[in-house]
Amino acid sequence: MALPESFLQELIAKNDIESVVSGYVSLKRRGRNLVGLCPFHGEKTASFNLYPETASFYCFGCQAGGDVITFIKRIENLDYMDAVRFLADRSGMKLPEYTKENDASSRLRLRILEANREAARLFHQALYSPEGKVALDYFHSRGYTDATIKHFGLGFAPPGWDFLIKGLGDKGFRREELIAAFLAKKSQHGGAYDIFRNRVIIPIIDIRGNVVGFGGRVLDDTKPKYINTENTLAYVKSRNLFALNFAKNAGRELNLCEGYMDVIAMHQAGFTNTVAALGTAFPDEQIQLIARYADRINLIFDADGAGQKATRVAIEKLRKTGLDVRVVTIPDGKDPDEYIKKNGAEAFKLLLERSANAIEYRLLEIGKSNDIHTPNGKVGYMKEATQLLARITSPVERDVYAGRLSDLLGISKDAILQEIQNVRRRQQRTAERQQLTAVLRQESKQLRKVNPQADAFTRAANAEESLLGTLILHPDYIKRARAVLPAEMLVTDFNRELYERLLERESQGLLVELAFLAADYDEAAMAYISRMVKDAAERVAEDIEAYAAVIREEHALKDMADPANASDESIQKMLETLRARKQKK
Ligand code: UTP
Ligand code: MN
Repeated sequence: MALPESFLQELIAKNDIESVVSGYVSLKRRGRNLVGLCPFHGEKTASFNLYPETASFYCFGCQAGGDVITFIKRIENLDYMDAVRFLADRSGMKLPEYTKENDASSRLRLRILEANREAARLFHQALYSPEGKVALDYFHSRGYTDATIKHFGLGFAPPGWDFLIKGLGDKGFRREELIAAFLAKKSQHGGAYDIFRNRVIIPIIDIRGNVVGFGGRVLDDTKPKYINTENTLAYVKSRNLFALNFAKNAGRELNLCEGYMDVIAMHQAGFTNTVAALGTAFPDEQIQLIARYADRINLIFDADGAGQKATRVAIEKLRKTGLDVRVVTIPDGKDPDEYIKKNGAEAFKLLLERSANAIEYRLLEIGKSNDIHTPNGKVGYMKEATQLLARITSPVERDVYAGRLSDLLGISKDAILQEIQNVRRRQQRTAERQQLTAVLRQESKQLRKVNPQADAFTRAANAEESLLGTLILHPDYIKRARAVLPAEMLVTDFNRELYERLLERESQGLLVELAFLAADYDEAAMAYISRMVKDAAERVAEDIEAYAAVIREEHALKDMADPANASDESIQKMLETLRARKQKK
């Protein structure tokens, strides 16, 4: 699956990393580099670095790194080929045709998307067939208009076992494809049967307009209430928000609801900036997706225990991204769908306007679990509230809430502010320590994974990495390196393989650049490689020999681990090396 060299060259030339990244990150120049807030992890101080000279990026906070293609892979959640496609689209280039066919899994992915699209069409037709009358009546009885049904492409999966298997089979889809799409399941007898049966159908559409999956709801009270498409080649649940395809065009404020039906009702009522997470775990990827499309988010979950818990989790995770988080409480334990049906859109608008910000919401909750009319309750309230307020970054905001607390508890505002400061200091110390440990742990974990031998051969690996970084940055030195250092000399496998690749590209007259490596290495490896490159800017040609010397030395010493296997000649060499090393010191 190799893309033609000339194509990649043009692609990279037309998508220079600075202009691509600045579409996502607001960058400030610092010396030769640019810095900004890392889009891959929540942070308030900039540790994301862009190196125009090496056409690469690196984040000191989360160790993300790589070239422009790796950047697009991560930020748009795409695989390598789709990232290339994305950049090609961006710069008005056409992808060479044959590459698609060569890639079996990306071909299957396309088939899944086609099968989904056809399935959605069949489900929708079935809804308006005589057989689908029960389902259509069901939607109507819930108050959904035909315009809404059409807008969301709602449908009906009739009872029976082979509605799709037949319908899609007629259109040339194979069983394996339907199984891979989570539309059918293998039966015990080697056949297959439809997964969605006798359910109303809600298609899940991603931001690019692909039908990636379905939710199917029973028409009565049978369990399970919903069946949902599980992860497939075309659908990663944690990277998706239901209805974001519509909501992303509705401004920088989003409503987040629990379920399909809430979203549909909200859109019908005119709140087209509404999405659902379809789950209450809120994986980081979903949080980042929200942060990419919104500055303010209104949480609109059910008033029951599960909904309140989800609210708390979402607040914690979303506040870290710096979003303005608000909580809408619906009276009488209803969900938005029911509330709108009963009270109308205008009434819901009032609820939205009256939404509490996340702090107010949490203070209310703390008040519920601590009776401030008793001394114990007062102390408990004060303790939990200061913990909460200490996490507010704006001093003005802290001051406002300290004032409210003072009025409520009858404690002086100064004492409260003092207490908040103490908690803040403690929290900061803990956070810093945790951050440091996390960074160190992650860094070494990643390193071990990419180049497991680097731990055992630190000196060799360091020299190899300096050398490789220098060569990627200055490909004109590769000839010089080849002359003094054959590939066998490199001690660690990962680095040797990379070195061989560079020599190979050079001897074939191909360009050596970080972006050309992205096809062969995964994200962790690209981060590892881009770290080599970022330190190499100051290097000069003479450094090549110095690194080569160290690597040769270490290569000789590597056999030391097992002198029994070494030849007489190499033992001689080793001793010489050791002696030379001693003299140097
Ligand atoms: P709810 O039980 O609140 O359903 O689950 P709902 O969306 O309000 O639907 P109606 O109004 O009863 O028809 C909220 C969300 O949780 C997921 C679905 O995404 C649902 O929309 N869920 C719920 C499931 O995936 N499976 C289930 O069995 C139940
Ligand atoms: Mn509901």
